[in-house]
Amino acid sequence: MSSRATDPVIHTRRLVLRRVRPEHDFAGMHAVLSDPAAMAYWATPPHDSADQTRDWLAAMAATQPREGDDFIIEYQGRTVGKAGFFRFPDIGYIIDPALWGQGLVAEALVPVIDRAFTLHRLEQIIADVDPRNAGSMRLLEKLGFAESHRAQATLLIGGEWCDSVYFALSRESWPARTA
Ligand SMILES: CC(C)(COP(=O)(O)OP(=O)(O)OC[C@H]1O[C@@H](n2cnc3c(N)ncnc32)[C@H](O)[C@@H]1OP(=O)(O)O)[C@@H](O)C(=O)NCCC(=O)NCCS
Repeated sequence: MSSRATDPVIHTRRLVLRRVRPEHDFAGMHAVLSDPAAMAYWATPPHDSADQTRDWLAAMAATQPREGDDFIIEYQGRTVGKAGFFRFPDIGYIIDPALWGQGLVAEALVPVIDRAFTLHRLEQIIADVDPRNAGSMRLLEKLGFAESHRAQATLLIGGEWCDSVYFALSRESWPARTA
């Protein structure tokens, strides 16, 4: 899918968030999606082929405005991850492990969450996190999400059953913030 004049582009202090451009984003996203550290608690195992990443990028590009609102994260001109909604109301994010711990994903998610509540009028945003994923849970709590419940053996990933901790953020509890 080529970019359209109406496609949103969000500038935060350090990042540019924009719609996926499959050819352009392939190398950056394949590096992240095939990285065992980045994918340790993802819903699928690390990508072991280029085609897997191409399919993933095509699915992201095919997301319709009523279905989701997903963004590629660009940092210093490089494609380094993604943040947003592949399907409402589930939020998802991933970034190059070399960039972890600098507040970059929190910075990306503030305007994305803002759009979800103000533009897309979601009542609630939810996140499904592996209980071992301390970084993701800390990130969500920092953004105001609260744990709603837990469930065991929710996902079979690479032959291993994984558990889920569910987090939720309601529109009422989202304070006015700026990116
Ligand atoms: C989870 C992830 C997106 C966090 O990205 P990030 O840019 O490092 O997050 P931030 O720097 O904004 O950190 C948010 C908070 O989490 C904390 N944090 C980050 N990684 C952590 C870890 N491994 N353990 C504990 N806390 C951690 C940070 O210190 C920060 O809290 P603080 O401000 O109180 O210090 C990133 O680690 C990632 O891409 N993981 C792989 C993909 C993934 O698991 N996605 C989520 C699926 S549910």
